[in-house]
Amino acid sequence: MGVTGGIAAYKSLDVLRILQRHGHGVSVVMTHTAERFVGSASFAALSGREVGTHLFGDAGQPGYHHLDVNDGMDLMLVAPASANTISQMAMGASSSLLTSCYLAFRGPVVVAPAMNTGMWLHPATARNIAALRADGVHMVDPETGLLADGAVGPGRLAEPSAIVAAVEAVLGGTSPANDLAGVRVLISAGGTREPIDAVRYVGNRSSGRMGWALAAAARDRGAEVVVVQANVDLPRQVGIRYTDAPTAAAMRDACRSEFPACDVLIMCAAVADFRPVSATDGKIDKAASDTLTVAMERTSDILAELAALRDEQVLIGFAAEHGPPGLDRARAKRTRKAVDIVVHNDAAVDGAAFEGPDNVVTIIGPGDSETSLPRMPKRACAERIFDAALPLVHARAVSA
Ligand code: CTP
Repeated sequence: MGVTGGIAAYKSLDVLRILQRHGHGVSVVMTHTAERFVGSASFAALSGREVGTHLFGDAGQPGYHHLDVNDGMDLMLVAPASANTISQMAMGASSSLLTSCYLAFRGPVVVAPAMNTGMWLHPATARNIAALRADGVHMVDPETGLLADGAVGPGRLAEPSAIVAAVEAVLGGTSPANDLAGVRVLISAGGTREPIDAVRYVGNRSSGRMGWALAAAARDRGAEVVVVQANVDLPRQVGIRYTDAPTAAAMRDACRSEFPACDVLIMCAAVADFRPVSATDGKIDKAASDTLTVAMERTSDILAELAALRDEQVLIGFAAEHGPPGLDRARAKRTRKAVDIVVHNDAAVDGAAFEGPDNVVTIIGPGDSETSLPRMPKRACAERIFDAALPLVHARAVSA
């Protein structure tokens, strides 16, 4: 694990602890600037290993081989990665122990940048990040939030748990079973927005968190994952392919083109059921009238359409309902749309709301099975949904 200079350097101690709790051995290399923020003694004490800080040993250390730290390592993580270190890595410079290790290392590399918003948004940084991605480096994108300098914007180091999840995804999956290996999973996420005019839209509430959790769970169980996303404002996750589909029509096109190559489809997106018949050019002038009537038309039901086209795919739909009759409506939806599983959640229940980290779901199907789960994090819900779908996925994969 490489640690570079920045306020976020203290968070690497958490990253180190989580990695160790998960059974990974970690050796730390720090830049000199990082040492101004956190002492190497802290990393040495936690890792139980010597911390590398210098390219050269003391005069009395003739056998000092600065790249020995790379030996036997499965992965290199740089967290936090400063703008300066990122630029050196992109250039192939080797002026510090950390960048020399990077240049000499032949395994996978994960980089979690953290810096001031201006630096992150600078075209030079964007170029360097693009160069590293092109070199095969896995990025854990920084989050948007309050930064050390008091500004609010992108640049804050991703949460330590997200960094560890990315590391483990690259290492080959956190799931001991790897039970979705070779399975291609298509997930729609977010909420579509249907334009009324050049600036206004009608849309559905959805943060995309449930879809993101499903994608990460599928990836960690070994699946190849494609996410068709509508207006999701969450950091993209490593090891997942994304396609943008902001409207119901774009989502229909993207899903139809990805569907033939998938084994499992999960329609988690809140697709608008109606859209304005035609979007007005420019901006409607509110001074023109006290009321506005927008003629709406039905959108295509993507899930039902794909169910009719299905080959051997396992189909999973969601039913976000409001209030007690919702469960019956969800059961009926499963039959009407001819899908294998419908995941019901009642947005009226505390903790099952659209934007939160948790969900309260009932998994209806496959067959006659029905499982009501207590409130739990969306990632845990995602795991239970895949557990429920697994027998079907394997049965279809065998027969295909
Ligand atoms: N869905 C879809 N295409 C649409 C609308 C919904 O594929 N145009 C999918 C959703 O992604 C979800 C499932 O269908 O997986 C159920 O969505 P929901 O909005 O709950 O149900 P509707 O089909 O819209 O039915 P209702 O009128 O009862 O709300």
